[in-house]
Amino acid sequence: DVHRSSTFAPVNIAVIKYWGKRDTALNLPTNSSLSITLSQDDLRTHTTASCSLKYTRDALVLNGEDQDISGARTQACLRELRGLRKEVEAKDGSVPELSGMALKIVSENNFPTAAGLASSAAGFAALVRAIADLYALPSPPAELSRIARQGSGSACRSLFGGYVAWKMGEETDGSDSAAYEVAPAQHWPDMRALILVASAEKKDVSSTVGMQATVKTSERFAHRAENIVPARMAATEECVKSRDFATFADLTMRDSNNFHATCLDTSPPIFYMNDTSRAAVRVCEAINTHAGRTICAYTFDAGPNAVVYYLAETEAQVAGAFRGIVGHKTGWDNSRGRAIQAGEVPKGMEIAAEMLENGVSRVILTAVGDGPRRTEEH
Ligand code: DP6
Repeated sequence: DVHRSSTFAPVNIAVIKYWGKRDTALNLPTNSSLSITLSQDDLRTHTTASCSLKYTRDALVLNGEDQDISGARTQACLRELRGLRKEVEAKDGSVPELSGMALKIVSENNFPTAAGLASSAAGFAALVRAIADLYALPSPPAELSRIARQGSGSACRSLFGGYVAWKMGEETDGSDSAAYEVAPAQHWPDMRALILVASAEKKDVSSTVGMQATVKTSERFAHRAENIVPARMAATEECVKSRDFATFADLTMRDSNNFHATCLDTSPPIFYMNDTSRAAVRVCEAINTHAGRTICAYTFDAGPNAVVYYLAETEAQVAGAFRGIVGHKTGWDNSRGRAIQAGEVPKGMEIAAEMLENGVSRVILTAVGDGPRRTEEH
């Protein structure tokens, strides 16, 4: 007998960035963060968890390749989930003892792993959600987010849809460091995201390593965590609640720039943004200047890809401008992409446009979306 459950889990892209840990074993952050969950119609991890007495040992397969499952982060997630299943079994003697069986986890991303597209976030969220479903755990998403956090910090935010915050918490055991929903996707459904894939190669400094170097060596880091982020978190939550795009966009761009300035202040410095990224910043700024108001916001994670947030009503101005620049060279390979006409290239942006044209390999158009959902098996 094989017991199985499958799920999709979404990618999330932070607008207030998590950068720095106060506990590296438990993935406890030095500041709270806030993200938007992106649609699983476009980007997702699909994971099937199964368990059986026939299996001899735990196994993890990602995109068809066997993975090392012995890592401390994966082990922490499995241990916690088995512990919760044991509680279920102790309460009800008639349920099968799944906690004692070996697990097989089969995962597939529909986007390049480690291209800076938050694959670890979707990956650990999917792993935790699939096993929780397999075990029929009564745990609410907040409890599962505490488990996923131990896999990868940003993964805790992918247990929810829409607009999601991760409260840093204060306890040393991490019991109050979990994600919560600020607002569901339906609250502000017209949020769109355009992703300029600047490089699909594996990044050189992983976020785990990079943030520890920052914590150790940057003088700006403490100022960011203590004096800048707390007020920004509160302000961004407010903007989401009141659907104030212009202020939301301003905070998003400032926080991305502050995070990358902190990386630059690390010794030796960490560069995630490249010339292509900076060209995307210039074009965004020009689109806003041309519109006479803020209609798009850029943000960059631990890699050169630009994520540009905008609202559906300005799609022609924002996505159209980017399509005018890079559309003829790259794939706009989804339904939303095909519907967008190439628009005007902002004036004075010839050099930045050429830089983008050369540096962007793919454009993904997506939108705010829901949390993990159960699916058919692989
Ligand atoms: C820049 O969650 O990948 O994307 O906890 O070490 O796995 P670990 O780090 P990870 O870091 C993400 C950093 C970021 C910002 C963010 O997503 O908030």
